[in-house]
Amino acid sequence: MTARKLMLITGASAGIGAEFARQYAARGWDIALTARRADRLEALARELEEKNRISTIVIAKDLAASDSVDTILSEIADEGRVVDGIVNNAGYGLTGTFFNTKWEDQADFLRVLYTAPIELTHKALSGMAERGFGRIINVASLAGYTPGSNGHTLYASVKSGLIKFSESIAAEAKAAGHHDVHCTALCPGFTWSEFHDVNGTREATNEMPKWMWMEAAPVVEAGINACERGQPVIVPGAVNKGLATLTRILPEPIGRKMVAAQSRRFRNTDG
Ligand SMILES: NC(=O)c1ccc[n+]([C@@H]2O[C@H](COP(=O)([O-])OP(=O)(O)OC[C@H]3O[C@@H](n4cnc5c(N)ncnc54)[C@H](OP(=O)(O)O)[C@@H]3O)[C@@H](O)[C@H]2O)c1
Repeated sequence: MTARKLMLITGASAGIGAEFARQYAARGWDIALTARRADRLEALARELEEKNRISTIVIAKDLAASDSVDTILSEIADEGRVVDGIVNNAGYGLTGTFFNTKWEDQADFLRVLYTAPIELTHKALSGMAERGFGRIINVASLAGYTPGSNGHTLYASVKSGLIKFSESIAAEAKAAGHHDVHCTALCPGFTWSEFHDVNGTREATNEMPKWMWMEAAPVVEAGINACERGQPVIVPGAVNKGLATLTRILPEPIGRKMVAAQSRRFRNTDG
């Protein structure tokens, strides 16, 4: 029986999720890693165990599957463990527009980026409340602040929803007296990862100024520290903070025009 706490990280096979795994492992957490690519997860699990005195659980699962959350939680329970923390991080950008994509693709997107994180949180939260400790980080996006745009469709909606959801869970935990159960929405701007390779916009995003980009490490560190402080929302980095503020003070039609002018760079609308 270990005294170490267990952090479940979705989308741990790459990018921001892999960095969360490295940073939580370095802080002495055991890590449950999940994503679809088992080979990547196994390699990262070995690295984490070699570098840190921790243990790992690898669960290869497609979050779009309707049984994904129950499967992940039961595999953790089978190891005799409870979930002390969750980083709901798995995500991607759909190519195409709402007009030219199949409903199945939109439904999978909603499941992976929105309902699975909410279901995981719901199913782990009562245990956290009983034990008086929990950490939940929902990886949202600066896109949750910006107006929707061509091809953005559900991405901005889902990320905005995750921000509100995190604020509500943080408020509910506080009101119920669960003062060591924290929930935080992390809202990165452009971050180096595989995200823009997967959604086919790497060439266009490479034209964007380097000062707009952050490495995954400081993004993740800001998220973990904010969650430790009990801060419901964190926008990492000075540039992103400035952009988030701008979205609140600019008149909406101007904001929409600015986003429309830029969105072709980070959305592939070819169906
Ligand atoms: N990079 C950015 O500029 C940026 C900015 C703001 C917000 N974000 C958000 O940050 C989060 C992480 O993205 P990233 O930038 O680190 O991208 P990434 O490097 O492409 O990593 C995405 C992760 O999500 C997993 N994933 C994708 N589809 C999945 C599915 N159906 N089931 C299970 N896992 C799945 C991938 O694993 P498998 O392929 O192995 O399943 C991978 O581990 C996302 O929620 C994204 O929206 C990113």
